[in-house]
Amino acid sequence: MAKITANDIIKLKREGTPIVCLTAYDFPTAATVDEAGVDLILVGDSLGMVVQGHDNTLNVTVDEIVYHVSMVWRAVTRATLVADMPFMSFQESDEKTMANVGRMVREGGAEAVKLEGAQPETVARIRKIVGAGVPVMGHLGYTPQSVHYFGRRVVRGKDAAEGRVLLERALTLQEAGCFSIVLEMVPWQLAGLISRALRIPTIGIGSGAECDGQILVLHDLVGFYRGYSPKFVRKLADVTAAMRDAVKEYGELVRSRRYPAEEESVSLAEEVWAEVSELEKRPEN
Ligand code: KIV
Repeated sequence: MAKITANDIIKLKREGTPIVCLTAYDFPTAATVDEAGVDLILVGDSLGMVVQGHDNTLNVTVDEIVYHVSMVWRAVTRATLVADMPFMSFQESDEKTMANVGRMVREGGAEAVKLEGAQPETVARIRKIVGAGVPVMGHLGYTPQSVHYFGRRVVRGKDAAEGRVLLERALTLQEAGCFSIVLEMVPWQLAGLISRALRIPTIGIGSGAECDGQILVLHDLVGFYRGYSPKFVRKLADVTAAMRDAVKEYGELVRSRRYPAEEESVSLAEEVWAEVSELEKRPEN
């Protein structure tokens, strides 16, 4: 299967094919997600919550994203690989932004980066990143890095004025060169309107079925997160229960000496055992 590029993601919208996106943060889950045929894998700063156990995404560093992207990169053969630019990795200066993007691509193996928001400085930096040949995914609506401004998981674009602003920002990000835009927690009618207004795809999370594609946090989808689960999450597996059951069974097997079985052990050749077993007969034993 050919490797998917940012350009292919735009083509999927043109063909009217819904775009399947998920997060992944390590080698085995990325290999599984890629094998299952998703189009785009995001190493999201959501790892701060679902992997590191923080309350929000703000503690995640560039070093950590680079580390996780490099694990995911080793696993991915098909999906396009996007690295999230964490809090304060692109807000300070052009120089710092470009250096951080360089690390995501060179050290991590990212094929694109994602930036939250559409502040004028952010838009100018998106232009520079795209100019350097790195595809950029935008992120509008609820932007988790602004949790202290908006609060937790707030619907954005609930009235006409906010809706107009969101549409304008989406058009601005498209004009700046983004190849796609995540729309998080936007009412489905507005998300549909924005999707129809853009040439590039919208990737919805909690924004209804009229987006050009969908993204979820893998741990929410497969039931491997104990924190708050928003209403838009569809839990299609219960990995926590499966893992807990396996670990409980392992404990019972070990405690009852039913694990390991002989075929799960290595054994000595008979003649060697004949010699070694003599050691048990030594007086000090
Ligand atoms: O960090 C993340 O995983 C994200 C997605 C939820 C879009 O930004």
